[in-house]
Amino acid sequence: MEKLDGKTLDLTKENINTLKRLFPEVVIEGKVDFEKLKSVLGEEVDDRKEKYEFTWHGKAQSLKLAQTPSTGTLRPDIESSKNWDSTENLYIEGDNLEVLKLLQKSYFGKVKMIYIDPPYNTGHDFVYEDDFRDNIKNYKEITEQTNKSNAETSGRYHTDWLNMMYPRLKIARNLLRKDGLIFISIDENEIQNLRKVCDELFGEENYVQEISWKNKYGAGAKTKGFIGVHEYILCYSKEPITNIEAPLNGEQTAEYEKNKDEKYSTRGGYVTQPLMTNSLDDRENLQYSIEYNGETIIPRKQWVWEKSRLLEAISNDEVVFNKKKDGKYSVRAKKYLINEDGSIRKGKPLSLLNGPFTQAGTKEVEEIFGDSNIFSFPKPTELIKYLLSFTVNEFEDKDGIYLDFFSGSATTAHAVMRLNSEDGGNRKFIMVQLPEMIDETSSAFKASYKNICEIGTERIRRAGDKIVEESGKTNLDIGFKVFKLDSSNLKTWDPDTENLEQNLFNLQDNIKDERSKEDLLYEILLKVGIPLTAPIEEVKLNDQVIYNVGFGGVLLCLENEIDLDTVQAMIKLKPEDFETKVIFKETGFLNDSVKTNAIQTLKKNGITDVRSV
Ligand SMILES: C[S@@+](CC[C@H](N)C(=O)[O-])C[C@H]1O[C@@H](n2cnc3c(N)ncnc32)[C@H](O)[C@@H]1O
Repeated sequence: MEKLDGKTLDLTKENINTLKRLFPEVVIEGKVDFEKLKSVLGEEVDDRKEKYEFTWHGKAQSLKLAQTPSTGTLRPDIESSKNWDSTENLYIEGDNLEVLKLLQKSYFGKVKMIYIDPPYNTGHDFVYEDDFRDNIKNYKEITEQTNKSNAETSGRYHTDWLNMMYPRLKIARNLLRKDGLIFISIDENEIQNLRKVCDELFGEENYVQEISWKNKYGAGAKTKGFIGVHEYILCYSKEPITNIEAPLNGEQTAEYEKNKDEKYSTRGGYVTQPLMTNSLDDRENLQYSIEYNGETIIPRKQWVWEKSRLLEAISNDEVVFNKKKDGKYSVRAKKYLINEDGSIRKGKPLSLLNGPFTQAGTKEVEEIFGDSNIFSFPKPTELIKYLLSFTVNEFEDKDGIYLDFFSGSATTAHAVMRLNSEDGGNRKFIMVQLPEMIDETSSAFKASYKNICEIGTERIRRAGDKIVEESGKTNLDIGFKVFKLDSSNLKTWDPDTENLEQNLFNLQDNIKDERSKEDLLYEILLKVGIPLTAPIEEVKLNDQVIYNVGFGGVLLCLENEIDLDTVQAMIKLKPEDFETKVIFKETGFLNDSVKTNAIQTLKKNGITDVRSV
């Protein structure tokens, strides 16, 4: 019986396995032969002393930190959750580096889109400091005592910020699907560093756009004279993409506003696009004249559409004619916001986003909490909804998992629920947030919120109810399962144990006393790579519980007096058409002979993947 240990997916091991798949000859007994690797790569090895690279103090250490498996786990908190039994959304309380590590196996390549809004490093925001030796202990210390920010006394600490961001972005990338995208909000303090880091971690070929987002009217005065009215949203893809589209209403607001004619109110407003081109590719079917108001119109070079298509569009009132001062016409096609079937029209997004303004986000928080000071500078849900709607390579997808691991007031969760209610989608969210303590003098504290997670979860609760109430759609998933970062339930990895002899004795029962069966269940799911929202059926047998996860994919019994009846009951749950994994508590068997017998019986019934904790 293979024993599960307290660590999560070992990323270094995974990397070596990937290398081995590509070049089996360079991995010998689990170790990489670099000389051989060099010879396999031939001329392409760069061993010049000076080369193009972006580096800073602590970079190598951050890389190592990213590769070190977590010794923590995620403990379920049913009481803080909403609709625990039915929801597929997650709210995870914890430091996002540890959480991302813990999610590696269950969510590898499964996330459709990541949006993050990390600290901008303005000097007034809190930049988390990792501890290379024991990050879980560090987490507990930090969340129990601090709400300190990265004080701006000796300039901005680019190094601290980079050391914080680098390992997180590195492992977040693993979670993205092949057609996945990541969007990162940032301002001018770190945009240039962020781009360099992302070029390295995602690959320059996967750079999609540095979107400038005009988020203020004109109140953002700057010390050196400019009035700052924009920030950035950096976008990278997991793999190179050929095409990207977004709802047309996410931008060009002014033109839409101007063209919201009554007659087409159900179609939103429209923008126009030129129908005469300045290029000439000698296609005769595009060079023709048309009659309009008794005049003959000929394009200087050629039309975009063939004649029949243009005439049809004119008769459908989808074309705008404008006579210019020189007597010539500009002819443009109307592009409506909403298609005839009611769906949102998409097109190529612009690199400049004109709104929505940050104020809109503050207003939303005020609507929910009755106080605009509950959370500073939340993003507008309209903005996130726009980003959630991006379509890559013409592949429309209204499902999938959307992750925000700097979730703050949980705007992303709110946006996911709103978009699902608007377009009938079935998107799921994963929010990750540090239980950062709230300043005792703030309005949020006075309203009895002690940390940001309490604000985030309360927002999702209220926003979800409001969406259901307003839309009348009762089948929306507005729930969330709460999990909290903590040390592993298994003693093996408890770094606090100093007494070795006692430690060895304790190992006979490897599970910490104060932890529940459910705690252990979810730790195991993470280790074997099952999503935290997989369906779990509790099968009761006498006083014992068998967990049937994913319709027979994994069967677990974490009881203390496991006998052969339990084993027989588990065999009955084995599905016909796929393999089952069975997991027991190592010390749970009545005695050793029951254990040996259990393994034999399972084997006879075709179950060979048997493990213990
Ligand atoms: C700029 S805010 C995000 C605001 C969010 N987009 C919204 O609309 O409400 C960044 C958040 O990241 C959180 N944070 C900072 N370091 C973190 C860490 N190591 N793990 C998880 N969350 C962290 C902070 O507590 C803060 O709430």
